[in-house]
This record gives sequence, structure tokens and C-alpha cells, in this order.
Amino acid sequence: MQILDGKISSQAIKNQLKEKVTQLSAARKKIPHLAAILVGSNGASETYVAAKVKACEEVGFISTLVRLETTISEKELITEIEKLNSNQAIDGILVQLPLPKHISETAIINAISPAKDVDGFHPINVGNLVQGNSSFVSATPFGIILLLQHYKIETKGMHAVVIGRSNIVGRPMSILLSENKNPGNCTVTLCHSQTKNMKAICQQADLIIAALGKPKFVTADMVKEGAIVIDVGITRLEDATKKTGYKLVGDVDFDNVAPKTSWITPVPGGVGPMTIAALLQNTFHSCSQKN
Ligand code: GUN
Repeated sequence: MQILDGKISSQAIKNQLKEKVTQLSAARKKIPHLAAILVGSNGASETYVAAKVKACEEVGFISTLVRLETTISEKELITEIEKLNSNQAIDGILVQLPLPKHISETAIINAISPAKDVDGFHPINVGNLVQGNSSFVSATPFGIILLLQHYKIETKGMHAVVIGRSNIVGRPMSILLSENKNPGNCTVTLCHSQTKNMKAICQQADLIIAALGKPKFVTADMVKEGAIVIDVGITRLEDATKKTGYKLVGDVDFDNVAPKTSWITPVPGGVGPMTIAALLQNTFHSCSQKN
């Protein structure tokens, strides 16, 4: 068993981006600028946005954090997004999800300019992804592709089983893995809460992507000897022994599954850091189109 180390791999990507920013700076070209909108004060969202802003600083990007009250109306939030859409200095915009219940996430995603949608959530970007055109790709599945690339893992012909059909992870992941690319060229099965014989399907998988948000859902009896297992889950479980008061648990029962695998991602330190590296890549790409 070998670890797919997201910390090492994301650091390599960040180092490359840092080098590119130094070159842009020397050539007096535009430096990538990411704007993040955080509505309210959801604990997990605070942590994720802080990590994104910190990563921007690390590689030399400019970042703007727009904090808005949880009581903001949908219309007012759209006005804030429109200001960022028309601000030439901003290359990438992300609105951290989830949003308060009175705001439609669809309406908000649709308000972001597709050219600045570095989260890859806008229907134009999703449509381009589905059609195999150039597009911004949602950071978590894109980060998983970058992780497989970093470790030079050949996925051609594999049976990939994606568990979870979210717009952010499962669905775009299934499309990326089915593309005629490397990583890609897989036969893909997308499983979800209504799937029958989940265990039997997973047992056939050469590659499992667990993205359903249920701690330790993937158990050793579901995994074929030598399979690759990628764990997208990051559930916070209360743990009084931790300084934060919680521990992070993945969708995979790591201790029992790991010995059966050829490659596996840990939680934390697997997919999480790659998501941020992918977001930075998307932001750099958006800026290069202007430079
Ligand atoms: N909430 C959970 N994951 C994400 C993400 O990738 N982007 C945004 N904006 N919100 C999220």
C-alpha cells in the first residue's frame, strides 16, 4: 500500500505557481487575484475560506475576502457578485457554500461570470466539461485528477466506481474519469443512495472515489485487493481529546481498507489540500487569459 499524499503533491503545484507569479511580477504582468465571499459564520466554511486565502498568500496571489451578514438577501448578494464580475482586477470569484436557507444556491452560482467561475459550478462551465471543451472544473474532482497525475497513475481501462452524485464532486468526477485522457479512459459507475448491490459493485472497482459524506462508509469487504481508493469525505466528529474539539473522518474505514489497496488517500492530508491547489490553478488560468 502506498499513500497518495495530497500535502506533498499540492506543495509541488504551489511551488510551480509561486515560480510563475515571480515571473509575472518580473515582467510587470497581472498577478492572479481571487475574491472569496463568505456569508455568515459557519465553522467549517470559515476554516475552508481561511485555508483558501492563506494558500493565495503562499503562492503570491492577491486575495479579497468579502464577509457578508447571514441576513443578506439574495438580491443584495447578487449585487455584490455583479460588482466583482465587473471589477477588472478580479480573476476568480467563489461563493463559499452552503448558503443560508433563504438564498438559492442556483441563483447565486448563475450570477457569477462564467469567465471568473474558478469553482467551475456555473452551468456554462459544467456544460463545457460535459462536452469535453475547455472549462473551469470543480476544484475537488480537478484536484483528484492532479493527484493521480502527480503520482503518474495510469487509469486507462480501469473500472472506476464513484460513490456520491453531488454537483460539486461525484458528477463532475464521473465525467472526468470517462474522458479520453490520462487520467481518464475509465469505465465509470456512479453509485448513490438508491444503488442496489453497492458492495458487489465496489468489489469490482479498480478505482473507488468515495464522496458521499458518511464516515467510514467504505469498509474492507467492499474493496478488491490492489484497488486504488480516494477518500473525499471530511466529516467533523466530536472528539474531546482534540484541541479543536473535533476530529476529521473520511468516508473510508482507512485502517482496515488501506492494507488491501495499492494506493490510498489519507484524511486529512489527501484530497483536501489538492482541492485548494486546483482552485489556485483555476485562478492562475483565469488570469493568464487576460495577460
Ligand atoms: N463548499 C464545499 N465545497 C466547496 C467548494 O469547493 N467551493 C465552494 N465555493 N463551496 C464549497
